[in-house]
Amino acid sequence: MKKNLNRRTFLDFLGKGVLGSAVLPTVFLNSCRTQKEGLAKATPTPPPPPPKPMTQKPMEFIKKLMPTAQDDLMLAEGLEYNVLIRWKDPISDKDYFGYNNDYTAFIPLDENTLDEGILWVNHEYISTLFVTGPMGFAAKTKLQVENEMYNVGGSIMKVKKNAEGIWEVVQNDPVNRRITAKTDLPFNWSEKIMGRSSGMGTLANCSGGVTPWGTILTCEENFDGFYADRDYATGGLLPIPNYGWNRYYDNPPEHYGWVVEIDPRTGKGQKHIALGRCAHECATIKELPDGRLVVYTGDDKPNECLYKFISSKVGSLSEGTLYVADTIAGKWLSLKYEDHKILQDTFKDQTEVLIRLREAAKLIGGTPLDRPEDIDIDPRTGNVLVSLTNNGTKYNFFGSIMKVEETDGKFDSLTFKSDTYLAGGEDTGFACPDNMAFDNAGNLWFTSDMSGSLMHKPPYTSFKNNGLFLVPRAGKQAGEILQIASAPTDAELTGPSFSPDGTTLFLSVQHPGERSISLTQLSSHWPDGGDSIPKSSVVTIQGPLLEHLMNLE
Ligand code: FEO
Ligand code: CA
Ligand code: CA
Ligand code: CA
Repeated sequence: MKKNLNRRTFLDFLGKGVLGSAVLPTVFLNSCRTQKEGLAKATPTPPPPPPKPMTQKPMEFIKKLMPTAQDDLMLAEGLEYNVLIRWKDPISDKDYFGYNNDYTAFIPLDENTLDEGILWVNHEYISTLFVTGPMGFAAKTKLQVENEMYNVGGSIMKVKKNAEGIWEVVQNDPVNRRITAKTDLPFNWSEKIMGRSSGMGTLANCSGGVTPWGTILTCEENFDGFYADRDYATGGLLPIPNYGWNRYYDNPPEHYGWVVEIDPRTGKGQKHIALGRCAHECATIKELPDGRLVVYTGDDKPNECLYKFISSKVGSLSEGTLYVADTIAGKWLSLKYEDHKILQDTFKDQTEVLIRLREAAKLIGGTPLDRPEDIDIDPRTGNVLVSLTNNGTKYNFFGSIMKVEETDGKFDSLTFKSDTYLAGGEDTGFACPDNMAFDNAGNLWFTSDMSGSLMHKPPYTSFKNNGLFLVPRAGKQAGEILQIASAPTDAELTGPSFSPDGTTLFLSVQHPGERSISLTQLSSHWPDGGDSIPKSSVVTIQGPLLEHLMNLE
């Protein structure tokens, strides 16, 4: 186990592929410098504590978990969890943790500190039953709507290991704050969006990414459930069921469906228009050797597309070209207005192409896929893995993980090969892959997302509750698909991410008990048990299994 995070590992951890300080943001350089200057003035650092004696024998092999319907977070042998934070737990005297936590990302404070850092967590959507109360047909008050608006977006909080090695939230740390559906977020674009240069808040924050400069990309996925979406044939709104916020806040749907960047140190953010508007699951960023950026992002809807943005300028998320994948021909197709007559005949300008991205992508030949969700770059091969969760319209119930091999391994290549990497099904033991993460040794972790209405029913019966799966890449079990965790009733495990030393897995347990009929007929009591209401929570998972994985050869 590494005791020190060296600079190279630190930069790799932030997703920066190449060593070099040229584009390392000032915020990080300043913070590292401050730390060092601070240390120089302080008394000498005490020697590190002696290593703890091994309490358990090293693991021989990983014993997978069998599917289960238990209303609990069940873990494979060699792992244990602690609830780090639940919905409504305070993060400061002013703020509390939002609803339906999803994507998590740990941002180190500097290259030497392993046991504390900033944790970012997405809050995707709300359950009216739990957040507002049983509504019947009564209209929500403005106060109730504002309370719902507070419960989505993201949480930023300092976390630190205590003397027992358990992670805790540092209450009232200056970085602790909420980003909500009311936080003002400027559009990073030369033109206004529906007459405004900033949007009210962020919502539907599903998965995300971390930039090489240590900021968060949080992705607005099913935005149409909040302020609906536009019917461009009539100019009116489509009749999409939503939370009814527009009774009090008449925000245009064009202000949502973007990739949003937040600096977790300041809470300041912006919406990146150049990455297009769709149901973004995630934004996975790779820095090229010359400092330009490539961002992969998927549109999580049946028969929607996979995208890639290539910046034309070092470190820019506004200057560059957005491409859509034609997986049949193996080509990235430019979505530049001037490149296609059909785009010029249909849309007013590039801004409109980006706002109506789905339509534009189809017009130029983007391939409809089976719900492209999370995207991760395999550190062992450089392949880009894309979860294709499922597609009921094509009778693809179990989904797959697709492998995209860019030509010559170049992330800015405009051609690629694609193939199925792992297919869901009864023989492989998983269905509906969603979020993925690679640990420090390059083992693949992924979660499953069978929807609550389909779980425990054919053809999903044998999978029981949603789970977390692991594919070891070395050792005797290399290539096996092992279930490692099982979610409480109705829940989905989301947002897996690792601490810099790889010894802690942060994991969201989202929407336990979401199919509860009422506050007295609850389908889950996780995490507090008894008669308690279910609460989405972030857990920290630790144990010898994680150490076993790091030592596999
Ligand atoms: Fe919010 Fe595509 O999961
Ligand atoms: Ca998801
Ligand atoms: Ca991921
Ligand atoms: Ca999902």
